[in-house]
Amino acid sequence: MSDQTLTIALSKGRIFKDTLPLLAHAGIEPVDDPETSRKLILDTNREDVKLVIIRASDVPTYVQYGAAELGVAGKDVLMEHGGEGLYEPVDLKIARCRLMVAGLPDAGHGSRRMRIATKYVNATRAWFAAQGRQVEIIKLYGSMELAPIVGLADRIVDVVDTGNTLKANGLVPMDHIADISSRLIVNKAAMKMKHQRIREFIRLIEEAVANHHPA
Ligand code: ATP
Ligand code: PRP
Repeated sequence: MSDQTLTIALSKGRIFKDTLPLLAHAGIEPVDDPETSRKLILDTNREDVKLVIIRASDVPTYVQYGAAELGVAGKDVLMEHGGEGLYEPVDLKIARCRLMVAGLPDAGHGSRRMRIATKYVNATRAWFAAQGRQVEIIKLYGSMELAPIVGLADRIVDVVDTGNTLKANGLVPMDHIADISSRLIVNKAAMKMKHQRIREFIRLIEEAVANHHPA
């Protein structure tokens, strides 16, 4: 993409929906709707701004390697990625939830190591290690709540918002790992190369967040 272009990486669904008003405040409006369009690169009203629509967990990778200068990613996804090559200048205060350990009430695991099913393998390993607890981690890609019910794992680590998904599956929240919200992320090299433009974009986004969440 041209040297003047700013590319912003976003996932569709809740992050796209909640980021739209913040982008609008920065004068950016997409021309296509990712929920109906098959396009992965969306034009905006600004010739020099493109949106790329990718999986939530791929956003930090695109920004780390400079395929997009900017992105919006959940703190859960950033904890899992590790944040290498990225700045996280703004807490957008959208897509808020909590990263939690959950399981069946009263379920024991005998003398063997506790098994934890999650898509957040790195974040889970780091959190249990910091607690001095030795656990076995089973990587899943979704529907973590099923794992304890069918005996695949003793606990899960997943994001919880209303708690309805846990409750519907007979699980209870146990440990709180982190409060989660989405962050604006910036490629470190782009921050140097396109400093003025990116600083101005960050300023407008900060202003939009402050307008949405008055102190
Ligand atoms: P993938 O496309 O890789 O399956 P995903 O299903 O996690 O990703 P989303 O459901 O759009 O993608 O979630 C994006 C981000 O929104 C998550 O990384 C998390 O930070 C946050 N999030 C996830 N679930 C909830 C929820 N129920 N309530 C509020 N925020 C949530
Ligand atoms: C997420 C997450 C949980 C659920 C938690 O899933 O993986 O399963 O939301 O939200 P709750 O505590 O409010 O039930 P996903 O994004 O697939 O579900 P959603 O779109 O229904 O929130």
